[in-house]
Amino acid sequence: MGYLLRLSLCLLCLSLHSPLTTSSPYPNSSAQLCHEDERFAMLEFKNSLAIDVSSSISQFCAWRGQVPYAKTASWKAAGSDCCQWDGVTCNPLTRHVVGLDLSCGELQGTIPMNSTLFTLRHLRSLNIAFNDFSPSRISPQFGRFQRLKRLNLSNCFFTGKVPLTIAQLPQLASLDLSQFDFVGIAELEMPDFNVIVRNLTGLRELYLDSVIVNSEATKLSSLTNLSSLMALSLSGCEFFGPLPVWIWNITQEIDLSYNQFIGRTTLNGRHNLPSLKVLSLSFNLFSGQLTISEDVASSSSLMNRSSLMSLSLRSCNISGPLPTWIWNITQYIDLFNNHFTGELPSMVDKSKFSQLTSLDLSENLLDGEVPSWLFSLPSLQMLNLANNQFSGQLTVIEDGASNNTALLDFINLGGNMIQGSIPNSFFELVSLAYLDLSSNNLSGVVKLDMFCKLKNLKDLILSYNGLSLLTKSKSTIGSNVAFAQDYISRHAPLAKI
Ligand SMILES: *[C@@H]1O[C@H](CO)[C@@H](O)[C@H](O)[C@H]1NC(C)=O
Ligand SMILES: *[C@@H]1O[C@H](CO)[C@@H](O)[C@H](O)[C@H]1NC(C)=O
Ligand SMILES: *[C@@H]1O[C@H](CO)[C@@H](O)[C@H](O)[C@H]1NC(C)=O
Ligand SMILES: *[C@@H]1O[C@H](CO)[C@@H](O)[C@H](O)[C@H]1NC(C)=O
Ligand SMILES: *[C@@H]1O[C@H](CO)[C@@H](O)[C@H](O)[C@H]1NC(C)=O
Ligand SMILES: *[C@@H]1O[C@H](CO)[C@@H](O)[C@H](O)[C@H]1NC(C)=O
Ligand SMILES: *[C@@H]1O[C@H](CO)[C@@H](O)[C@H](O)[C@H]1NC(C)=O
Ligand SMILES: *[C@@H]1O[C@H](CO)[C@@H](O)[C@H](O)[C@H]1NC(C)=O
Ligand SMILES: *[C@@H]1O[C@H](CO)[C@@H](O)[C@H](O)[C@H]1NC(C)=O
Ligand SMILES: *[C@@H]1O[C@H](CO)[C@@H](O)[C@H](O)[C@H]1NC(C)=O
Ligand SMILES: *[C@@H]1O[C@H](CO)[C@@H](O)[C@H](O)[C@H]1NC(C)=O
Repeated sequence: MGYLLRLSLCLLCLSLHSPLTTSSPYPNSSAQLCHEDERFAMLEFKNSLAIDVSSSISQFCAWRGQVPYAKTASWKAAGSDCCQWDGVTCNPLTRHVVGLDLSCGELQGTIPMNSTLFTLRHLRSLNIAFNDFSPSRISPQFGRFQRLKRLNLSNCFFTGKVPLTIAQLPQLASLDLSQFDFVGIAELEMPDFNVIVRNLTGLRELYLDSVIVNSEATKLSSLTNLSSLMALSLSGCEFFGPLPVWIWNITQEIDLSYNQFIGRTTLNGRHNLPSLKVLSLSFNLFSGQLTISEDVASSSSLMNRSSLMSLSLRSCNISGPLPTWIWNITQYIDLFNNHFTGELPSMVDKSKFSQLTSLDLSENLLDGEVPSWLFSLPSLQMLNLANNQFSGQLTVIEDGASNNTALLDFINLGGNMIQGSIPNSFFELVSLAYLDLSSNNLSGVVKLDMFCKLKNLKDLILSYNGLSLLTKSKSTIGSNVAFAQDYISRHAPLAKI
C-alpha cells in the first residue's frame, strides 16, 4: 500500500518535472530564476507565520479530502528558484509569481497591512484557505491585487467585517470566503454585500457560506449584474424575506440553505434554469406548494432536463404533490421533512438513475407501495423513506438485482404502514450497514442467521412490528450481527422471541 503510494507519487513527480529538465516549451525559462523581490516577499511572508501542525483547521481540511502539510517548510532562502517552490506558480515567460496556493498549509499567525504578501502584484490566483489566521480581520490590502482572478480565503478563522476594498478587484471571477459554522468562533460579516457584489461584475463563483450578511433578500434584487454567475453559495448567511428572482439566472449551482427565506417556493426561471446542476434551498421557512411558474411549465424547461443532478429541499415546509420532474434528477434527491403527498412511480427508466447516490424522502406524507426498483440502483448508497404513509408489502427484489447494489449501505423504511414479511431478497443486500424497518406492520418469522451474509451490518432495528425472532446459537452469527441481536432484544418490545 505504502509502496504503491510512493511509487505513484514518484511517477507524479517525474511527470511534473520532466518537461522542465528535458524539453521545456520555454527554452529560456529554466535558466532564468524567479524575481528576487518576489522571492524575498514570499520568504518574509513565510517567516512572519508559524507552522502549527496540530491546528484544528487541519482536521477540517482532511475531512475535505486534502492532506494538510506545511508547504512553506521546503521554501529555501539562498539561490533557489522560487518558481519551483511548493504552492508557487510562475508565468513561464515573465517568471513572475502568478499563483500562490498555500491552502491546508498549517500556517498560523496574522497577515498585517504591511505584509509582504501584498507586494506580489502579479498574482492572478491566491488560495490560503484552511489556515489559522485568528484572531485577525481580512486586511483591506487584499484589494490591491489588480490582476487577481481567484481569491480563496475560506476557513481561515478570519473575523470582523470583510473589507470594502474587495470590491476593487476588477478582474475577480471567483471569491470564496466561506466558513464552517463553528460554534463559539467569532463571525465573519459582510454588511456591504450589495456594494461589493455589485461592483464585481466579472464574478462567476461566489461562496460565502456562514458569512453573516443578515440582509433582506429582496434588497438584493438589483443585482442583475450577477448574470454571469455560475455558482452561488450563500448557506447560513442570515438572509431573510422572499427569494430574489435573479437567482434563477445562475447557471450551474445554487445553495441558499440555512437562511430565512419565506413565502411561496416558486421555481421561476426563464433563461438559464435548464442548465442548473445543483440546487439547495434546505432549511428555509417557505410556505405552501412548490410551484413552477407558468413560463417554466409551458416550456417544460424544468421538467424536460436531465441537467439537474442534485436537489436538496430539507425542512422547507413545502406541501402538495410530489412533482414528477423530481424523477429527472440524476444524483442526489433530498426532500426530508416537508408535506409532500402522492405515490412513487411503480416503474422508472432505471438507466436514468444509474448515478443516483442518495434518495431521502423521509418525514413527508407519501403513500402507496415502496417500489422494488429502489433496491436495484447501482450507485445508490442511501435510501430513506421513513415516517411516511407507505403501505402494502415489500416486493421481492427482482432476481439478481441485488448483485447491482454493491453500494447500498443505509435503508430506513421505519415509521410507515408496511405489511407482510421481509422478503428474503433483503438479506442479499450485502453492503448494508444500517437497516431500520421499525414501526411498521411487518409479520412473519425472522431468523437471525438470515443476516449472516450482511457482514457490514451495524444497526438492525426491527422494533414495533409483529415479527417473531428465531435465534440459533450465537456462535454462528457474526460479531456485528450479534450486536444487532442485542439491539433487538433490548429495544423490540413487540418482537416475540
Ligand atoms: C531567449 O532569450 C533571448 C535573450 O533574452 C531572446 O533573444 C530569445 O528570443 C529567447 N528565446 C525564446 C525562445 O524565447
Ligand atoms: C510591519 O509593521 C510592524 C509594526 O507595525 C513592524 O514591526 C514590522 O516589522 C513590519 N513588517 C514589515 C514586513 O515591514
Ligand atoms: C478554496 O480552497 C479550498 C481548499 O483548497 C477548496 O476546497 C475550495 O474548493 C476552494 N474554493 C474554490 C471556489 O475553488
Ligand atoms: C468598484 O470597482 C472599481 C474598479 O473596477 C473601483 O475603482 C471602485 O472603487 C469600486 N467601488 C467600490 C465601492 O469599491
Ligand atoms: C452593472 O454593471 C454596469 C457596468 O458593467 C454598471 O454600469 C451598472 O450600473 C451595473 N448595474 C447595477 C444594477 O449595478
Ligand atoms: C436574467 O438574464 C437575462 C439575460 O440572460 C436578463 O435579460 C434578465 O434581466 C436577467 N434577470 C434577472 C432577474 O437578473
Ligand atoms: C408552512 O406553510 C404553511 C402554509 O402551507 C404556513 O401557513 C405556515 O406558516 C408555514 N410554516 C412556517 C414555519 O413558516
Ligand atoms: C425537451 O428536450 C429535448 C432535448 O433536449 C428538446 O429537443 C425538446 O425540445 C425539449 N422539449 C421542450 C418542450 O422543451
Ligand atoms: C423527465 O421525466 C419525464 C417523465 O418521467 C420524461 O417523460 C422525460 O423524458 C424526462 N426528461 C429527461 C430529460 O429525462
Ligand atoms: C449474482 O451474483 C452471484 C454471485 O456473485 C451469481 O451466482 C448469480 O448468478 C448472480 N445473479 C445474476 C442474476 O446475475
Ligand atoms: C397489519 O397487517 C394485518 C395483516 O397482516 C392487517 O390485518 C392489519 O389491519 C394491519 N394493521 C394495521 C394497523 O395496518
